[in-house]
Amino acid sequence: MEIFIMDNAEEIGKAAGKLFVDAINKKPNIVLGLATGASPVPTYQYIYGEYQKGNVSLRDVVTYNLDEYVDLPKSDKNSYYSFMHTELFDHTDIREENVHFLDGNAADVEAECKRYDEALDRAQVDIQLLGIGRNGHIGFNEPSICFTKGAFKVKLTQSTISANSMYFNENPMPHYALTMGVGSIMKAKKIVLVATGSAKADAMAAMIHGEVTPVCPASILQFHHDVVVFMDKDAAKLL
Ligand code: GLP
Repeated sequence: MEIFIMDNAEEIGKAAGKLFVDAINKKPNIVLGLATGASPVPTYQYIYGEYQKGNVSLRDVVTYNLDEYVDLPKSDKNSYYSFMHTELFDHTDIREENVHFLDGNAADVEAECKRYDEALDRAQVDIQLLGIGRNGHIGFNEPSICFTKGAFKVKLTQSTISANSMYFNENPMPHYALTMGVGSIMKAKKIVLVATGSAKADAMAAMIHGEVTPVCPASILQFHHDVVVFMDKDAAKLL
């Protein structure tokens, strides 16, 4: 793991964003795995800032998002589909047919997860961007007794519900989500994880120094050969 401790979220956004912009310029049809949450927002701002300056184009970029809430309309402002459009896609020239999500409203969840896993295997993610939950979750892979392989429907933990419910002021937060499995995340050629704030300090210490255990799903990243971590001093305070 390559670890960078930065001054603040903006610096993380610049460093992680530059890594993505350079990778896109090197391989314009790159396949990116993308994440939601507050942590990747500065990275997305840097990427679309560079697009607006004419320094990068996302025209041929292909994306797969990590997860999506179950039974939340795609058009809801809190769906991860809406989030990605608001925070990144709508500010760039990415093509709608190149962006992919798990369908949290699919009638047949099992078939939907199989479809996504097969698409991911065909596409082969070049770089996967990750945030991390306070409990060490990646995507929506919550602490568990075993690591997951492919996509599945997950019941969110109270920790995640408490952390994310502040965004749901009109409708109650869904308690289920569809997520890429840990096995699929690990297949990405490169992984970039961003974390800010002291609420993530326990998770970062467990991820980096703890034993590899599904109790901290992010700890599996110790077994990946190409992981870059950008975090601020607060998130790094227990290292
Ligand atoms: C959600 C997402 C995760 C994300 C996490 C942390 O649970 N499913 O992919 O890493 O939130 O979000 P934040 O960056 O807002 O703390």
